[in-house]
Amino acid sequence: MPDLTAPGAPVLVIGAGIMGAGIAQVAAQAGHPVMLFDTREGAAAEARAKLGTTLQGLAAKGKLAPEAAEAALARITPVATLDAARDACLVIEAIIENLEVKRGLLRQLEAVVSASCVLATNTSSISVTALANGLAHPGRLVGMHFFNPVPLMKLVEVVSGLHTEPAVAAAIFELSKAWGKVPVHARSTPGFIVNRIARPYYAETLALLLEQAAAPQVLDACLRGAGFRMGPCELMDLIGHDTNFAVTQSVYDANFQDKRYVPSLVQRELVDGGLLGRKNGRGFYRYPEGAPAMPPVAAAEPAPAGRIDIHGDDAIAEAFAAALAGRGISAARVRGSGWAGLAIDSARLVLTDGRRAREWAAATGCADLAVFDRPILQPAPPGTALAYAVADSASTAWRAQAPAWLAALGFAPQAVADTPGLVVARTIAMLVNEAADAVLQGVCSPEGADAAMKLGVNYPAGPFEWLARWSVPGVVALVDALDAHHRGERYRVSPWLRRQG
Ligand code: NAI
Repeated sequence: MPDLTAPGAPVLVIGAGIMGAGIAQVAAQAGHPVMLFDTREGAAAEARAKLGTTLQGLAAKGKLAPEAAEAALARITPVATLDAARDACLVIEAIIENLEVKRGLLRQLEAVVSASCVLATNTSSISVTALANGLAHPGRLVGMHFFNPVPLMKLVEVVSGLHTEPAVAAAIFELSKAWGKVPVHARSTPGFIVNRIARPYYAETLALLLEQAAAPQVLDACLRGAGFRMGPCELMDLIGHDTNFAVTQSVYDANFQDKRYVPSLVQRELVDGGLLGRKNGRGFYRYPEGAPAMPPVAAAEPAPAGRIDIHGDDAIAEAFAAALAGRGISAARVRGSGWAGLAIDSARLVLTDGRRAREWAAATGCADLAVFDRPILQPAPPGTALAYAVADSASTAWRAQAPAWLAALGFAPQAVADTPGLVVARTIAMLVNEAADAVLQGVCSPEGADAAMKLGVNYPAGPFEWLARWSVPGVVALVDALDAHHRGERYRVSPWLRRQG
């Protein structure tokens, strides 16, 4: 196999669309001679011209030396036929997402390329194993899944199918590093790593919306409060509901309609209605306005209490103790009681473990009870949105006091319906559960999953980092509680998590 990382190694990029152009830019900036081919006449030359503007822009902003920008552009050559593949050490295809068209192209290429040439596909959803089927040398095909925009996104999923030779995957892994990317090995399975593990981020919010548990802007605020840059609703609006729905549908179908990945009626309705999101002016929100202002946060002061106990043993209880002390409210610490939160005289404010406020109230005999969502950021910045739900047995006074206490702890309380795991705990638990199943099935390593989610979709932490800060029994209990409530196949605890217990 040739040394793909040698700067002189010629690369042919096929498909001069949004991804192909980005890949050509990155390869050229890394020093490779890059040939660019597209079946649409003039497309490769247009893409090169656009890249010229991009590179000049980078030079103007001081992000690239003017000579480097010029040299990178000079390395990019539009080519008119696939004969150019003869000279390539590596061919990366980024054409239309269609199995038969991609297969046809790969077979055509095999007739032209040298024996040692590596073939890479940027497919985001097609099985690399299926693409290799029928090739004379299927071992040389590997997935090289870049993220959009290619020059900015660090992640590359290096996807191996059943045929892919380990040396080929290793060579692409090294090449990705040489291009300044962070490669992660993935086994070819539906959605690879990122598009699979990310499904619950959308699915759990869509499920909450279907049950009318909260408004989109409340769910978005809660998940932003957990450190996500965008809430699921605003993110789906940005991606486009047609695209997001298609990815969900493809992962669902590829998994033989496993209920865990079932698409949502809420999103189907948006797609059917042509409410595709930001790109056509309306999705969950209207654009350019975006999300409406949040409902005002309860500003009530907590009423003076006879006795306040802070339950819990972890960082959440520590933070609560500090917050109350900061407000001059004296409270005692109670460790080892098996729950976390505040006992305020006869009322309780309980950190969710998956049981609903109603179930907690019934189990403890405490009528004035509220559950609150898991604060993920430690310490939580002041005013972090946090979901809570009040038991239906609660008095009118406690309905006002529960949010007042959350506000006293530094949160912006968000009332939601009394559902298992509320918003953030439910979403994070399901993300962890999905990542655990991916590891169980050999799709990626825990470290690979963490890197992929942080770099591919900008998650504030990786699923296994969340797991380390929470606990295996905590996540298992939460998913089990969802399962007990909903019944069905959707909320199945990953055997990987059960084995850790
Ligand atoms: P695009 O539509 O912007 O570009 C595709 C280009 O391929 C077009 O210029 C088209 O003329 C050309 N093309 C179509 N059939 C061809 C053929 N047989 N031979 C040569 N050129 C051909 O599409 P985009 O978004 O760049 O996607 C390309 C690939 O990258 C797809 O497989 C997609 O799933 C994958 N991908 C896309 C991402 C995205 O965010 N857009 C992210 C990661 C992967």
